[in-house]
Amino acid sequence: MSGQGAFISFEGIDGSGKSTQARILADALRGQGRDVVLTREPGGSPGAEEIRRLVLEGDRDRWSAETEILLFTAARRDHLERVIVPALAAGRVVICDRFADSTRMYQGLGRGDLRAVVDQLHALMIGREPDLTILVDIDPAVGLGRALSRGGAEARFESFGEGLQSRMRAGFLALAAEFSGRFVVIEGGRAVAEVAADVLRAVTARLP
Ligand code: ADP
Ligand code: TYD
Repeated sequence: MSGQGAFISFEGIDGSGKSTQARILADALRGQGRDVVLTREPGGSPGAEEIRRLVLEGDRDRWSAETEILLFTAARRDHLERVIVPALAAGRVVICDRFADSTRMYQGLGRGDLRAVVDQLHALMIGREPDLTILVDIDPAVGLGRALSRGGAEARFESFGEGLQSRMRAGFLALAAEFSGRFVVIEGGRAVAEVAADVLRAVTARLP
């Protein structure tokens, strides 16, 4: 990470603790006097938050995997244009709860092999990766239990169950090996503070 800003993403299966850790990291970096933007996907800009409702609520068969790729990428493009790129250009640290790696996994691997389609659309419309990606790795049963106990209306993906979560976990670990230059894998099945200490160590080692 150098020059203008820093772009950090959190990835992992549902209930791995990404949102919790992203929030704690944002507070810790702000405490160091850094200018931090904490954001999330799908969403993060008004238009992308509208798309979020379309993709996360309703029946599990509401969209095909191909249509989902278009919707998630449309949301990402709006988020990138309006929030992420301007913040990085202003020298801020952007912490994003999920980014394109989630599309590579959930749409690229979730229901058949559409990874090449995801990558092509990404190259065409997004063309940017985070400087650092924290993968919070956790046992799928633990993650799903945490996610379901949280409740709420955004359960479309959680309704695909533990089988999907297991495949996503393996897929994320493979992705971390594929992009080993920007990924750090952190064991999420521990107390919140222990995980947070490892996250902060990994991030501060890479921030200018
Ligand atoms: P994600 O964003 O990955 O889905 P969250 O951060 O929303 O995960 O966490 C899911 C649920 O698990 C929340 O209720 C949260 O309070 C709880 N949680 C998060 N981290 C831990 C942890 N290390 N140990 C136990 N519970 C946790
Ligand atoms: P998120 O709000 O991060 O849920 P959780 O806190 O349970 O991890 O993301 C909601 C769901 O959206 C999650 O099940 C993964 C899915 N998703 C995709 O399928 N593709 C994507 O590109 C993104 C960003 C998320």
